[in-house]
Amino acid sequence: MQLAAYLDQQSESKRLYDRALTVMPGGNSRHTIVMDPYPVYARSGHGCRVTDVEGEERIDFINNYTALIRGHSDPDVTAAVSKVIHTGTAFSLPTEYDIRLAELLVDRIPAAEQVRFCNSGSEAVLLAIRAARAYTGRSKIAKFEGCYHGIYDYAQASDSSRPGNWGEVDSPQTTLETSMVPNLGKDVVTLPWNRPKICAQLIEDCADELAAVLIDPLPAALGLLSPVEGFLETLRELTRELGVVLIFDEVMSFRIGYRGAGHANGITPDLMSMGKIIGGGFPVGAVTGSTAIMSVFDHRPGEKVHHGGTYNGNPVTMAAGYETMRLMTQNEYIRLAELGDTLRANLSEMLQRRGVQHQVTGCGSMFCLLLSARRPVDFRELIECRESGPELTGLDREMLSRGVLLGSRGLFGVLSTPMGEAEIDQFIDALDQSLKALRIY
Ligand SMILES: Cc1ncc(COP(=O)(O)O)c(C=O)c1O
Repeated sequence: MQLAAYLDQQSESKRLYDRALTVMPGGNSRHTIVMDPYPVYARSGHGCRVTDVEGEERIDFINNYTALIRGHSDPDVTAAVSKVIHTGTAFSLPTEYDIRLAELLVDRIPAAEQVRFCNSGSEAVLLAIRAARAYTGRSKIAKFEGCYHGIYDYAQASDSSRPGNWGEVDSPQTTLETSMVPNLGKDVVTLPWNRPKICAQLIEDCADELAAVLIDPLPAALGLLSPVEGFLETLRELTRELGVVLIFDEVMSFRIGYRGAGHANGITPDLMSMGKIIGGGFPVGAVTGSTAIMSVFDHRPGEKVHHGGTYNGNPVTMAAGYETMRLMTQNEYIRLAELGDTLRANLSEMLQRRGVQHQVTGCGSMFCLLLSARRPVDFRELIECRESGPELTGLDREMLSRGVLLGSRGLFGVLSTPMGEAEIDQFIDALDQSLKALRIY
């Protein structure tokens, strides 16, 4: 589809967007799907392709913001879900479905001794933080500047820090949205990514009050900047020493390997928050970790964290998640990671050929591009590189018009198992042409 056709005021997407604007603020229930001047509306998805309401088909490189690792409408996942739907979708009685998925996760993830399900990654982060507080009897949490962990107030603090408000590098300000309670700032310690010495000092300074350190080992909001050598190890050792709960938020990064991102980095956290791929395309979240900490949810001795949730562990999500994870064998992860390596290498080769300074980041099925000669180490350097480099605004629209779906925040994407080398080639071609159209080269 050419850009002009997409921008046609008579298009079905435009008509739907106008309707949406009258009944939903900004026309949506989710800021991540915003696209200027309006989003393309989806009609259906099969494998790695999505068809929009105009009938245009595109390769999906964002996969519902990384949640779909087997692409759309995987036949086995669909069959598993269809079977459940015909026998009741939600009960006020437990079923076997959540036990099966919990067993699979416990079997696979070294840090997971017990699991508790919920309905989103945000809830999973909230529960992990509440569990850490209940377990330690402390109230503060520490999180990293610029990192996204969903919409729980304490986890969302400092996720949109900018030079005007972020303070000194060795004592970052905790920044809050106006919708948050101002006092919350006192209970959130903001840490600088990849600066182990500063982090150690900040953690030690408040250790007596600190319940948890929350970290995503491969943060998408930080352009998938990998942890520097020794960074995660320092955090692991220090938190263990000080009795602080180390929470790995693997809602997104769990997709990088069969046993998750903690295992891939050689670290066993105390708790993990999970979501996205483990729901097989349905709303999900989970908190998992050591039996000792997870016991705060146990009602038998008298639970310390009360945890309800009408749809927690519902059979539909659990069946889809189990089937998805069952199909994601070690070999599937290896194949996907090899495909990711091909994409990252071809991307870099194309940009080199065009004389565009760049950094390609990511691993496994995740990738990200930064147009900069320098590889940043922390969030502040990343912002500096982004702001001094060429603008990628409008890249999503350019890629859209060349048959590729991306998110709205620069070049960040993920692969799904139905993809092969042909899709990677198409992606690189589309990007090559899009960068030219944006006058990047
Ligand atoms: C690292 C991380 N944590 C938490 C969340 C929140 O998950 P959800 O959107 O399911 O609430 C996200 C969502 O993208 C995420 O990337």
